[in-house]
Amino acid sequence: MIKICFPVFSHIVMGEVFITVIVRFSTGVKGLDEILEGGIPKGFLVAVTGEPGTGKTILCLHFINEGIKTGDKGIYVTTEESRESILNQAKQFNMDFDKYLEEGNLIIIDALMGRREDEWSLKSLDPEELVQLVIKAKKKLGYGNARLVIDSMSAFWLDKPATARKYSYFVKKVLSKWNFTILMVSQYAITTSDAFGFGLEHIADGIIRFRRFIREGKLKRCLIVEKMRQTPHSLNMYEVLIEEGKGLTLKPLKGRKEDIALPKSVTNKIIKAKEEKEKEIP
Ligand SMILES: Nc1ncnc2c1ncn2[C@@H]1O[C@H](COP(=O)(O)OP(=O)(O)OP(=O)(O)O)[C@@H](O)[C@H]1O
Ligand SMILES: [Mg+2]
Repeated sequence: MIKICFPVFSHIVMGEVFITVIVRFSTGVKGLDEILEGGIPKGFLVAVTGEPGTGKTILCLHFINEGIKTGDKGIYVTTEESRESILNQAKQFNMDFDKYLEEGNLIIIDALMGRREDEWSLKSLDPEELVQLVIKAKKKLGYGNARLVIDSMSAFWLDKPATARKYSYFVKKVLSKWNFTILMVSQYAITTSDAFGFGLEHIADGIIRFRRFIREGKLKRCLIVEKMRQTPHSLNMYEVLIEEGKGLTLKPLKGRKEDIALPKSVTNKIIKAKEEKEKEIP
């Protein structure tokens, strides 16, 4: 199987040779594209997971920015920050989201509750309402490849984590008909590194997992591609660097497991607490 990383036909027959072409979307982060054999396969839903402040939103900004620069359309759903905060953050990395909005290549759906009543605000954290507004945005943006970010999906199941799988499956199923390539952010608790709700990782075609740890008194962030269907991706962990004016870059991480794992005593406490909790379930 030969993979070609530019948009051509999905199947080409040349004499006796079958060439399967996987069209890949650059993430906008060079190092990450290299890990992913060129980028994220078109039409995939990729879970971007990790603890607070690890770089999930910034990766999503790169993904949208790269798409619009190369002629795609972008939809950014923000549940954790306001539209203005997203615009300000993008500006710090020289991404001109204001211009993309004006040009009609980007729509930012603000789902931060109760803020305003404009056309692109989500009135409630309801997955049904979310997909309807995303489809409306796609129609408005018109013809072309569409990149979608949902930052974050955790907000939709915060008070009912058991629905995580159901909701993410619903969103994937409905939006798959609309030819989106999707980054879906999901958050992990800082104390236990547990997801708020399980299931997205199984539904997703890929998982980009961010992590954080303290080494020699300094916060380090790192990233590992835990899954990417149809891609022989790197299994290594990379350090995530975030710089003003530049954004996110990756650097190979030379570390030991002990540097990123929780101490054994803490892990044991967590396991014990979980066992106690399970005992309470009738
Ligand atoms: N202009 C900047 N220059 C350098 N570093 C920055 C800049 N802006 C943000 N950062 C770094 O990026 C971090 C935030 O990254 P990001 O918003 O992507 O996190 P996140 O994983 O989305 O977190 P959350 O789950 O809380 O939304 C900040 O804590 C800061 O360390
Ligand atoms: Mg974020």
